[in-house]
Amino acid sequence: MQLCLALDMSSKRENLALLQELREFELWVKVGLRSFIRDGKEFLQEIKAINPNFKIFLDLKLYDIPNTMATATQECIALGVDMLTIHSSSGTEGMRAVSEVAKDSNLLVFAVTALTSFEDSTFTPIYNAPIASHAKTLALLAQEGGCNGVVCSVYESKEIKSSTSLLTLTPAIRFEENPKGDQKRVATPKSAKEALADFIVVGRPIYQAPNPKEITQKILKEIV
Ligand code: C5P
Repeated sequence: MQLCLALDMSSKRENLALLQELREFELWVKVGLRSFIRDGKEFLQEIKAINPNFKIFLDLKLYDIPNTMATATQECIALGVDMLTIHSSSGTEGMRAVSEVAKDSNLLVFAVTALTSFEDSTFTPIYNAPIASHAKTLALLAQEGGCNGVVCSVYESKEIKSSTSLLTLTPAIRFEENPKGDQKRVATPKSAKEALADFIVVGRPIYQAPNPKEITQKILKEIV
């Protein structure tokens, strides 16, 4: 299992300082909407300048018409991005268009099933189904759409792994002592490992910790 560090802090300076501190670790570095909108593609180069072995995960969660998603994917490949997220609910046609563009590159495409900030009471009015069953349906569509994996919570990972050949990437990772924040379906790194997740995403439990290096080491120890 591999660790993705979510760089969601309020300035580029803070994000880069954290990466400097963690530069010795084998990490996927997740650049999400906040950082990418603010700091742009130069930020990706600055990450690589700290450690060229850092893998870049651009978490833009694309949801648009197939042509727009496919052409945006081409631009991500040109930027040297290693992983990209799209929404499974954008449909198999869009996912296929993205996968087709990505297939001759090293880009991994992950489709979001149900956001980990949802719980059944907020999910069902939108999707008309409980999270567990709908996440599986969306994962089956992602497989049909040619994606490499899905984003799901730890609670859906095992079932998705047993019914598809997809990789799983699980956010909302927390130790018992961490605040949940806006996340609902949280779980520990150890339970992510038990749920056979291939990647975990961790943001606040690392960057809000008094000693981020110590927490990173602790997480890496739990997931090897
Ligand atoms: O701070 P925290 O550990 O909750 O960060 C989780 C990260 O994973 C955030 O950047 C969030 O955007 C992202 N994410 C998520 N749930 C998803 C997909 C991505 O929390 N389903």
